[in-house]
Amino acid sequence: MGLDKFERRVILSTALVLSLFIFAMLYGRSKYNDLPECLPYDKTYEEARVVKLDSLTYQVYAVASMWQFQPAQIYLPVGSEVDFFITSSDVVHGFNITEKNVNLMAVYGNINKQTVLFDKPGVYKITCHEYCGVGHQNMQAEVIVNYPTFSSKL
Ligand code: CUA
Repeated sequence: MGLDKFERRVILSTALVLSLFIFAMLYGRSKYNDLPECLPYDKTYEEARVVKLDSLTYQVYAVASMWQFQPAQIYLPVGSEVDFFITSSDVVHGFNITEKNVNLMAVYGNINKQTVLFDKPGVYKITCHEYCGVGHQNMQAEVIVNYPTFSSKL
């Protein structure tokens, strides 16, 4: 029993598209392993702070509220890998670092996490990109990445 020529073509192209799809998923997973995660909620995340694990590994516990981010300024040396843990103490806010492709929601009772590598010096603006009231446009913070020798606030 032979397959119709057209049928065979359909099966082959389906297999091709399917394998491209699977390849793209696996490739994306290996290349961008800093995909956002949603973590179980814990009160300790509501305390805004920067934790230094070693000279190039940091944790930033960022708390969004009407209408500010805490901590407002984060100083890091070049080459730092940072786990951002984001939450809100009131309404829904956004947490956006454009240059680093970070686009998270800050939600009360929720923890969103993303790992970011800061391999170039510069000032990286954090903005709220979710309308949260009259002070929304003032919600900004920054990550200041500098060479360790130039940085006084580490
Ligand atoms: Cu917070 Cu907009």
